[in-house]
Amino acid sequence: MNTSPTDKTTFSLLEREYYMSEEIFEREYDRIYSREWIFAAHVSQLPKKGAYVKFSYGGEEIVVVRDEGDQFHANLNVCRHRGFRLCVEETGSVRAFVCGYHQWRYDLDGSLVGVPQMPDGEYFDYKDFPLRTAQTEVWHGMIFVNLNSVPVEPLGERLAAFDATINKFAPERTKLAHSIKYELDANWKIVVDNALECYHCRGTHQTLCAVVDVAGLMSDLKEWLADTGDGPSDLGQAGMRIRPGMQTLSADGTLIAQKLLGSCTSVDVDDGISGGVMVVPNFFYAAFYVDHWWTIAIRPISARKTELIYSWYVRADAEEGVDFDVDRLIEVGHTTQSEDNRLIARTQAGVESRFFEPGPIGSDVEPALNDFAMNYLKYLD
Ligand code: FES
Ligand SMILES: [Fe+2]
Repeated sequence: MNTSPTDKTTFSLLEREYYMSEEIFEREYDRIYSREWIFAAHVSQLPKKGAYVKFSYGGEEIVVVRDEGDQFHANLNVCRHRGFRLCVEETGSVRAFVCGYHQWRYDLDGSLVGVPQMPDGEYFDYKDFPLRTAQTEVWHGMIFVNLNSVPVEPLGERLAAFDATINKFAPERTKLAHSIKYELDANWKIVVDNALECYHCRGTHQTLCAVVDVAGLMSDLKEWLADTGDGPSDLGQAGMRIRPGMQTLSADGTLIAQKLLGSCTSVDVDDGISGGVMVVPNFFYAAFYVDHWWTIAIRPISARKTELIYSWYVRADAEEGVDFDVDRLIEVGHTTQSEDNRLIARTQAGVESRFFEPGPIGSDVEPALNDFAMNYLKYLD
């Protein structure tokens, strides 16, 4: 019997240091996280002027706030006086950002408008010290931010291929129903790897496997990031397909919410349609079903700490307790992610061993892993 790797086998590409080194983490921040679009929030989380959401990645804190109408700003949470953190809470509502140290006052767009005891122009010009800002873009109701200091390709253009799928579900006419922040003691790439293969699904995810077509998902994953000749893609289009006869991604396959999304009809319910969007290496995934949708955003905090934000949405006019029940809405996702989190923590622990070395992987069993790693390394160069 031939026990050597065959042409169906490749090896993982990343050595141990990629999962531990703060130096590599800094490079990832410079090359990926400070340049690419990062999912921040859904517009429903900022219902009126002054409402804000604060979140972190790569050691930075960003505050996204709604101004007039549909205008959003993203301000770095660093006072221009002596660096104090302006916002402490993760969500809130303000008329202006007032620093808690010496009461400098900033408008929602970050301009400095008030400094106690130092009138404008007498010590310095206020206009020279606005909060640092990030670029923002709203795509189908999802707010993204970008820390790049030069204007970047609009996200909507980059993701235009997904418009047809997304329009069907109209996520801009939905609202956040529940969100969970999982704080993981693991490198973000271990979290991404886990999300990119379903080789572990049958052994781990009983609840998920009851409703998801695992074989279909595994073959979809092959296409998602596939090497098309110019190197692997950083976008993927597919939903986590559900089994024939199921209506939506719920524990028993029946509808979770009575109010259907977008233009979905009872025929779509019978067909159990789904859709999905994935962006890497800064991982963002959105999955759509007839009655709800969800997002997963992975936010690296340090080389060994990652936040995974899982959020579930329903149609804007759906009422909790009447049209849907939060426990049912999150059941499959939360159960599955909790199972994944245990796998992720133990993988990180093992990868930190001096004896860890990249092992063989089946090129058709978990194909997206090396596509992701190749893509990531391309960004890092
Ligand atoms: S540090 Fe913010 S006002 Fe002084
Ligand atoms: Fe999993």
